[in-house]
Amino acid sequence: MKILVTGGAGFIGSAVVRHLIENTAASVVNVDKLTYAGNLSSIARAAASDRYSFHQVDICDEARILDILRTEQVTHVMHLAAESHVDRSIDGPAAFIETNLVGTFRMLNAALSYWRELSEDARAEFRFHHISTDEVFGDLPFDSGIFTEDTPYAPSSPYSASKAGSDHLVRAWHHTYGLPTVVSNCSNNYGPYHFPEKLIPLVILNALHEKPLPVYGKGANVRDWLYVKDHARALELVVTKGVPGESYNIGGNAERTNLSVVETVCDLLDTKRPRAGGQSYRDLIGFVADRPGHDRRYAIDASKAERELGWRPVETFDSGLSKTIDWYLDNEAWWRPIREKNYAGERLGQSA
Ligand code: NAD
Ligand code: DAU
Repeated sequence: MKILVTGGAGFIGSAVVRHLIENTAASVVNVDKLTYAGNLSSIARAAASDRYSFHQVDICDEARILDILRTEQVTHVMHLAAESHVDRSIDGPAAFIETNLVGTFRMLNAALSYWRELSEDARAEFRFHHISTDEVFGDLPFDSGIFTEDTPYAPSSPYSASKAGSDHLVRAWHHTYGLPTVVSNCSNNYGPYHFPEKLIPLVILNALHEKPLPVYGKGANVRDWLYVKDHARALELVVTKGVPGESYNIGGNAERTNLSVVETVCDLLDTKRPRAGGQSYRDLIGFVADRPGHDRRYAIDASKAERELGWRPVETFDSGLSKTIDWYLDNEAWWRPIREKNYAGERLGQSA
């Protein structure tokens, strides 16, 4: 297998690249524009493999993508490249439309041209796997409901609307042109190499710097958390075993309110790196203005992936969070330059 991974320098893409190089015999062709969210330091070890190559390319450049598909003789595409940060989509939606919607359209066009040139056997093996989010399903009430693959789309933010549109394009390229596509929709990931402005790394790093821990609204919003390595394993199964035209929900079965996530990080840090004065990191928690359009709750039913692909998460939320905190304590050399360059502690997503 020769897998073209788009966005392989990002948070989840880098976990996929590391997983494929370390645990499979596949070759990886990483295509990434290296926006603020892309960090080659996340894949330094995997990049030393002779089964790895890298192209710094924008996915909107259809001609370059087609050329890479041909020269690298790609057998599978895992399309993760996206503008992915919800708060940034509130402040500046244009890049989200450009990359997530137009970029996915360009990727589909390039993949279709390439696929049509392949032999019959190679066409049967080829897959275009589009990696998407549970946010396309929209807002769940606090006390009922769960997202299945049949839940209607109802996106709320510019980010989730752009991802919903890209999912529809992928399905259309399957139904209309026969391109063998699969889609996966996953819940909130966390783990090593997570960009420092996202909730869990932000709270870990702000706590270590004795800075306030900002909780939006009352902290009652619920997310369903999945350790990123478990997601990477699921994605390998989707691209190799998924049925063309189908979609698969992936989630950690770990619903938590945001406040309880922040408190758990504080409690773990109290044990692993106690504060000088002996107080709890919980004292740093502060409630700030809510995110505009903040969906109350997401919850994923991942039983189809378990039944049909044999996938199940290995980490519980507690074990994964403990590993994540240990990783940030041990890997300042990774996060410090990124935090200093890209994140000055400003509040994002308030421009609505
Ligand atoms: P990320 O923002 O960390 O990484 C995105 C990567 O894509 C970066 O390396 C960036 O440089 C690259 N990129 C952005 N625009 C590009 C372009 N025009 N051309 C080429 N490369 C470009 O994102 P992530 O958190 O790793 O998410 C990866 C995918 O998974 C996204 O499609 C996202 O919607 C989806 N997803 C994320 C989560 C999550 O919790 N992070 C959950 C479900 C689904
Ligand atoms: O649900 C999957 C989505 O998860 C992915 O599709 C997105 O690409 C990914 O970025 C992530 O989006 P979120 O907006 O959920 O991630 P974030 O870490 O920004 O926020 C998690 C929750 O925490 C959310 O309800 C908002 C809240 N929050 C976030 C920040 C940054 C806070 O309360 N305080 C904060 O400072």
